[in-house]
Amino acid sequence: MKKIIIQGGEELSGTIKISGAKNSAVALIPAAILSDDEVTIYNVPNISDRDALIEIIELLEGKVTLDQDALKLDMKNIKNKVIPEELSKKLRASYYFMGALLGKYNKVEMYFPGGCNIGARPINLHLKGFEMLGAKVTYDCDKYIIEADELKGARIYLDFASVGATINLMLAAVKAKGTTVISNAAREAEIVNIATFLNNMGAKITGAGTSEIKIVGVEKLGKAIIEVIPDRIEAGTYIIMGALLGKDLKIDGVIKEHVEALLSKLSDIGVKYEIKNNVITINKCESMNPINIKTLVFPGFPTDLGQPMSVLLTQTNGTSLFEETIWENRMGHIKYLNKMGAKIIVNGSHAVIIGPTKLQGKDVVATDLRAGAAMVIAGLIAEGETRISEIKHILRGYEDIIEKLQNVGAKIEIKEI
Ligand code: EPU
Repeated sequence: MKKIIIQGGEELSGTIKISGAKNSAVALIPAAILSDDEVTIYNVPNISDRDALIEIIELLEGKVTLDQDALKLDMKNIKNKVIPEELSKKLRASYYFMGALLGKYNKVEMYFPGGCNIGARPINLHLKGFEMLGAKVTYDCDKYIIEADELKGARIYLDFASVGATINLMLAAVKAKGTTVISNAAREAEIVNIATFLNNMGAKITGAGTSEIKIVGVEKLGKAIIEVIPDRIEAGTYIIMGALLGKDLKIDGVIKEHVEALLSKLSDIGVKYEIKNNVITINKCESMNPINIKTLVFPGFPTDLGQPMSVLLTQTNGTSLFEETIWENRMGHIKYLNKMGAKIIVNGSHAVIIGPTKLQGKDVVATDLRAGAAMVIAGLIAEGETRISEIKHILRGYEDIIEKLQNVGAKIEIKEI
């Protein structure tokens, strides 16, 4: 079994370059289906989710050329086929093929998506939106058949500002007849990236990044290029490491507005940092104030940084509160933090974190992607050796995490044990 092994306590110094955003790339690749021509996506992170999506595009007979981080997708001969269960189950984002194939062919057949086990993860809002666009949804043995004679623009109100539903409905509506308005839309930066890509193909989308998105249907989408935005969650993860272990640690490729909620909390804690252009320089904070964190939809504190941040809160001088409001099951890492010496009491989606505590290296598990990132942070600040198993979750979302950390002085490696 492959494990990540960390010898903790090393200072981190040098530069970490941020990769393209996972949660953008995993929507941009299925979105490419809507083009009848060739599209190129730059700055695509080398993560296993990318490879799973490429496998689906190839199954649909799209032509794929990958040259480092540039992904060229030629959609001229793409076909509408059933996406097999084992492929859709590999990742959550396979569900973007629902919106993309429905938008292009008025029909899609695929299985329920996979992804991290962080909650029930229903897709009712996606399906309700497809129905409002005129599609009929049938469900048989875990397989969805979604079809329409013709998709027609509609006004769709989302009960919850869901990232996935917002993107999937943009994909389905982009070629629908007439105008679609998505209200209470999610405002995450990734959504703007996807809308820009579709507009570059010829779509007419306005309002992405606000809570009301307007989509005027077009007949044809063509050639386009797009660059994946920098990964704000990856950046946030390394910024947190910098606050704990940095010595002039530079995080290069950060869009300040995307990490504002995190930076504001770090300032409350007492962490000092400097931002110049897109580079944040950060140093270890010797004395940290306890704070309260509640995860919210963008631009609130991101759920995907809640788990990494909870590790930092074990080092503050007093009691901090961490509340997760998006997912039901994002406390899987706490058991392992406590095993390492943290004092955290969990009650449902609330955690009371009593600091400061010295962490000791132990055998721990990456129960999901961000829990895995939390375990890496814990291992880096712990005394002695930490061995993390189930590392496939971490490798799904963090490009070259081992190399990036080794380059700034961390003692971290992957070993077959
Ligand atoms: N929800 C519903 N019904 C739906 C859709 C969502 O009830 O039809 C609920 C979910 O159960 C959850 C909440 O709404 O409680 C938020 O879900 P959302 O749809 O916004 O999340 P998602 O699109 O499935 C994306 C990211 C997640 C990230 C969330 C929130 C991708 C592939 N995933 O998920 O990323 O946590 O948005 O920002 O983009 C991660 O990177 O670790 C990760 C889990």
